[in-house]
Amino acid sequence: MSYRYLGNKSRISDWIVEIISNELSVGSSIVDPMCGTGAMSESLARHGYSVTASDILFFPTLHAKARLLPITDSHFQELGGTYEKTIRLLNSLEPEKGFFWREYSAEGKPINGSRPRKYFTGDNAAKIDVIRSKLIEWKSEGKDSLAIDRLTHDLLLSVNKVANISGTYGYYCANFGKSSLAPINLTCSPVITFEGEMKVFQSNLMDTANKVEADAFYLDPPYTKRQYGGNYHILETIARHDYPEPAGEGGLRDWKSTASDFCYKRKAKNAFLEAIKNINARYIFISYSDDGQVSKDDLLELLSNNGDVVLYERPLERYNSNSNGIKKSHVTEYLFQLKKREFGVVQDKRSMVA
Ligand SMILES: C[S@@+](CC[C@H](N)C(=O)[O-])C[C@H]1O[C@@H](n2cnc3c(N)ncnc32)[C@H](O)[C@@H]1O
Repeated sequence: MSYRYLGNKSRISDWIVEIISNELSVGSSIVDPMCGTGAMSESLARHGYSVTASDILFFPTLHAKARLLPITDSHFQELGGTYEKTIRLLNSLEPEKGFFWREYSAEGKPINGSRPRKYFTGDNAAKIDVIRSKLIEWKSEGKDSLAIDRLTHDLLLSVNKVANISGTYGYYCANFGKSSLAPINLTCSPVITFEGEMKVFQSNLMDTANKVEADAFYLDPPYTKRQYGGNYHILETIARHDYPEPAGEGGLRDWKSTASDFCYKRKAKNAFLEAIKNINARYIFISYSDDGQVSKDDLLELLSNNGDVVLYERPLERYNSNSNGIKKSHVTEYLFQLKKREFGVVQDKRSMVA
């Protein structure tokens, strides 16, 4: 599943899993509470771990469900008959000029008076509208929810292929490129079955850190100030099957309720502190980089106060566009390994006094 997502770990998942597997035996349980595309969740499941995946946003949970939870044609019986036939049925629906066409297409007329937002061609937006309507109808009729989640995931992937954006959905490009002019087309995604126990839900890490028990947590927080809720607002709207009020020229849905403390320089260190204090697991692995809001030394100090720390580093190529075209540079990718001194006990002594 190729996917341009900020901080997607597909390129280095083998490296991360190899380090984790030096400490954690096959069959252990691990939580991926900032799962994004679900790339790490899938790699960990492939290695034989039981995986719990979650994210503060909703659409990543659909990716994680598609990558972790087994599904068969019987789930699609009341939809199109089989998975493949249901995908064909969705692709064959007649376009419908609805919310996406009005708010996010070159032919549309946003309700707040903004100029047409060129995220999609009119034809593609009208196809997104009709497919969304069908999925919403099936949901309201109580049809198989796992199948509807899988089809919504497939819609998200097909939308990514035709979106007229450069990387994220923060804004659209002025002109349509070749890929965004192609007609949108849904395809079946792979069906894989894993040995371990898999769980997926939406949550803020800060709310669930001390409620989920596991052998390890793998944290992959945002490194920079870019909020995922704003940068992927269109995917969130598709996943939620809702009709938010798009704001401003970019048409963003309200993203403040899902804003991450890890994106603010003044809050990120405390967010790490809170997470580390509350997580109830022997091991915590953390991906971070020299681009991060918290320095390597600060993170090392913070983690060392809680147990034994090992730091792994590797260079990773990154591509920056600049006025001369593409400039290649490197970022140093970190993997911190913390073996917690205390866990499985009440860590916050204040709660014992009450
Ligand atoms: C660097 S990305 C994770 C990428 C992922 N490992 C992958 O390979 O695709 C960071 C993720 O953290 C999520 N996030 C940010 N703050 C969060 C929080 N407080 N609780 C849960 N998820 C959070 C974001 O929505 C985003 O999906």
